[in-house]
Amino acid sequence: MAELLEEQRESWGTRSGFILAAIGSAVGLGNLWGFPYKLYSFGGGAFLIPYILALFVVGIPIMILEFSIGHYTQRAAPDAFKRGHKRFEIVGWWGIVLAFVIVTYYPVILAYCFSFLWYSIVGIFTGGELPWAGEGIEGVENAKVFFNETYLGKVDIADARFYLGSIRWNIVLPLAVTWAAMYFCIFRGVRLVGKIVWLTVPLPWLMLLILTVRGLTLEGSMQGLAYYLDPVWSELAKPVTWRYAFGQVFFSLSLAYGIMITYASFLHRKSDLNNNAGIISIADFGTSFVAGLAVFATLGGMAFVTQQAGHAVPVEKVAETGPSLAFVAFPYALAQLPYSAWFSFIFFFALVTLGIDSAFSMTEVIVASIVDKTGWRRSIVLPALTVVGFLLGLIYVTEGGFNWLGTIDGFVNGTWGITFMGLLECVVLGWLWRIGTLRRHANSRSDWKVGRWWNYLIRMVIPVALGALFFWQLFDDITGEGFLRTAEGEWILPSCVGLGIVVFVPVVAIILSILKGRSDIGDAHRPEQGLVVGGRFEGAVAFVGALAVTGLLVVCLTVPMGEGAKQVILWGSLVGGIAAMLLSNYVLDRHHTSTSQASWSARWAGILAAMDASAAIAMMLIGLAGEAKIEDTAAPIRDKLSGVSYVILGVVLLIIIGGLGWSFYRALSAGKDTGIQHPDEE
Ligand code: PFF
Repeated sequence: MAELLEEQRESWGTRSGFILAAIGSAVGLGNLWGFPYKLYSFGGGAFLIPYILALFVVGIPIMILEFSIGHYTQRAAPDAFKRGHKRFEIVGWWGIVLAFVIVTYYPVILAYCFSFLWYSIVGIFTGGELPWAGEGIEGVENAKVFFNETYLGKVDIADARFYLGSIRWNIVLPLAVTWAAMYFCIFRGVRLVGKIVWLTVPLPWLMLLILTVRGLTLEGSMQGLAYYLDPVWSELAKPVTWRYAFGQVFFSLSLAYGIMITYASFLHRKSDLNNNAGIISIADFGTSFVAGLAVFATLGGMAFVTQQAGHAVPVEKVAETGPSLAFVAFPYALAQLPYSAWFSFIFFFALVTLGIDSAFSMTEVIVASIVDKTGWRRSIVLPALTVVGFLLGLIYVTEGGFNWLGTIDGFVNGTWGITFMGLLECVVLGWLWRIGTLRRHANSRSDWKVGRWWNYLIRMVIPVALGALFFWQLFDDITGEGFLRTAEGEWILPSCVGLGIVVFVPVVAIILSILKGRSDIGDAHRPEQGLVVGGRFEGAVAFVGALAVTGLLVVCLTVPMGEGAKQVILWGSLVGGIAAMLLSNYVLDRHHTSTSQASWSARWAGILAAMDASAAIAMMLIGLAGEAKIEDTAAPIRDKLSGVSYVILGVVLLIIIGGLGWSFYRALSAGKDTGIQHPDEE
């Protein structure tokens, strides 16, 4: 390992500094703004099933993967991948470029939060009146008009599909404030970040706690919670529910953008990886869930108050605002309740402190990647990035900007961007790298160890799951209406730009990886040089098998045939794909030893076979979704929590409290603060 330590790297001061910084990145607007409305829109309590599944099967294992590669190589994402093979650097840059796209618009949402925080402060000083306040159903309209027209100056939605409109100067200043705040949080490097997060992580938790207690003690809160938790099972039959659940887990945990890789690269050599990943992921889920309780309990309180006042506004009337929940529904609800300006202040303060550390985590990794590659000074790269990020952000600070932001976010954070990136990461590290080395590395210093099953998750289960979601979306988008064009055949500009961005991201990644870096690591450090190659024959068999399955799938897709024949081919492809994948996996298990390596044919066969299996699953699911008549189940009783909701609540709390309790117990019984050793101790 000595060669990986040739350079003294910056580091977090303590284990807690790192954990808080990673939680700070993970816990952000996605938790308080994204999670509650997605859960509400996609089946309430039922949404928790795909979400928790995605968290444990995909989220935590990938976080362990990212921690282990970052920590093993002690490099930001691009260089970390490059350690495996020169060409893998592209994968690292791919994630970083995606982070760059996000960092152009994420601060814009933070800027809205800053503005609303300001309105709340003004409200406090001017006797509690909030500018969006209004009574009854008309009040909801008021809140919508305030956000959409007065604040955003949004152009008609139909027009926003085609042009940006002029700049909204009232948002430019808060955007500048956001970027300045991000700059000052990280300009001194990660050691300062490790201290700042002692403020930016606990503070929003405190705010959330206040909002939750207040929400739950309001009369009518159970009514709101019923909307949040009562399951609508039929939503599970809709593909989009699953895609949102998986996407939300990735976004919420800040996975696949190279963030966790880079953050882990600043850890001391003996730091724990597995347990930290568990703690961070469960803390993130806990925050989302509690945020939802706070939001919906308050909406319930609002519904009750408006009923009493004789101008009843049911929860669904305000909650339907979806992504505008944080800027329309919730502010409206607060405005109906006593001390509205104070609670509005608490809410937006929570959002600002939640979001700021997520936003600067993106800047930090982009800077770290550039500095690692070029050796340029941080004091030049960071200000330059700050100015560029701010200027590009102005695109979204326009009359049509909010619509553009939503559309581009849909591409980058949806299946086209993030899911594909996660898939790529798993296949490259699972099949082309030596994942066993990463597992041993992580286990050798962690409070608890992951078994071989983890290799199989990364190599097979996750790629098949993410691949199926990817192909599913691909089919939907290509065959569906309104993807890039309106029904009248006009191009929808933001969608075209969004697609353009996700297509262009790898091109930029390739260019960045071709540019010569300051130290050309890579091949020189390849762990596999000079090893005996094994499993050529089995690898070739698996490859031919996988190729044959691909052929079958292409036939199934292109040649018209009966439903029965199609089903036979699809099942055959699935079985064939899995068989070829297992054979390749066997070759890797057997030949990836300290003296030998598995043949490349086996590795590529594994990837191809995994993609075959996922394409077959996607095609089956599309067939099923097409056939199934999804009946929208009658709306559940909405005035109190149903029995099953209590069970859901109990299970979720058990997972959160039990999971965190167990992780802390393991950390304590391992008896060491694994973050503070000096690297030389190893
Ligand atoms: N995880 C953050 C959130 O939930 O708001 C968002 C995020 C931060 C996404 C950093 C991506 C990222 F690179």
